[in-house]
Amino acid sequence: MKVLVFGKTGQVARELAALDPEVQCLGREDAELSDPEACAAAIRKHAPDAVINAAAYTSVDQAEWHEKDVTLINGVAPGAMALTCAELDIPFVHLSTDYVFDGAGDHPFGPGHPTGPLGVYGVSKRLGERAVMAAGGTHAVVRTSWVFSAHGKNFLKSMLKLFGERYRLEVVADQVGGPTPARAIARACLEIARQLKTNPEKTDIYHLSGAPDVSWKTFAEEIASAANAQIEISAITTDQYPTPAARPLNSRLDCTSLEAAFGIKRPDWRSAVQQIVAELT
Ligand SMILES: NC(=O)c1ccc[n+]([C@@H]2O[C@H](COP(=O)([O-])OP(=O)(O)OC[C@H]3O[C@@H](n4cnc5c(N)ncnc54)[C@H](OP(=O)(O)O)[C@@H]3O)[C@@H](O)[C@H]2O)c1
Repeated sequence: MKVLVFGKTGQVARELAALDPEVQCLGREDAELSDPEACAAAIRKHAPDAVINAAAYTSVDQAEWHEKDVTLINGVAPGAMALTCAELDIPFVHLSTDYVFDGAGDHPFGPGHPTGPLGVYGVSKRLGERAVMAAGGTHAVVRTSWVFSAHGKNFLKSMLKLFGERYRLEVVADQVGGPTPARAIARACLEIARQLKTNPEKTDIYHLSGAPDVSWKTFAEEIASAANAQIEISAITTDQYPTPAARPLNSRLDCTSLEAAFGIKRPDWRSAVQQIVAELT
């Protein structure tokens, strides 16, 4: 199956390219997301069997100052992609985020739970989800969280760098979620695209996050243990670590409908941490 991917340098896009030789990834030079019509034209030109959107404006704090661009890239472009896929009658898999939720409570959010984003990034991603659904074609909106891989910018890589520079670290312990290996997301996107091709009735919003749910502090401790780092990690609260964009305290995602529809289970992020740390150190 010929799969066209928006995103080339990103964490998930790189894993998609590595998984399947029939995946073709588009970078900014091929399709700039702030030009939605260019995204539509790229799909028509490549005439794929399915499209995955793994590109997005992902700098959550920077987004607060660039609302216009972020809205176009995360909110409008996915709608243009979805409309083109609907016209061509091919499945569209779109990645979204736990940041569409407000993070209240301590239960896992189901796909149908009311959204309530806390910042510009979350609002823009929710707009993208709505545009994809409104296009009316075969699609899956896949919300994920706390993505990490051996490439790009992510928490695991930031921690490894800090372990080399410090003896002591303070890490936020009151935000809880599921760290998710980019490779597992890439595998899931391909499987979803394949199944949607023959079972378009599976069109819906789904959740995919790694298990178990933990705090950033526990995530950091697991990375430290895998890296054999001599570091003391102590807990701080979100209030003690102010950021331009507010983060949800509860990022737990209920992933049961993904497993029921596609047979995709939550990946255990701890084994991915072991593998990636071994690769990077
Ligand atoms: N990272 C996370 O923790 C996280 C958590 C929840 C959900 N998600 C979602 O998961 C998906 C994949 O995330 P990721 O971590 O793989 O992202 P990433 O590593 O930040 O990569 C983003 C990709 O989007 C491309 N991109 C950004 N702006 C663009 C534009 N204007 N035109 C064309 N391409 C553009 C980037 O290209 P350049 O390299 O050229 O900028 C890059 O290839 C996204 O939808 C994201 O919202 C991520």
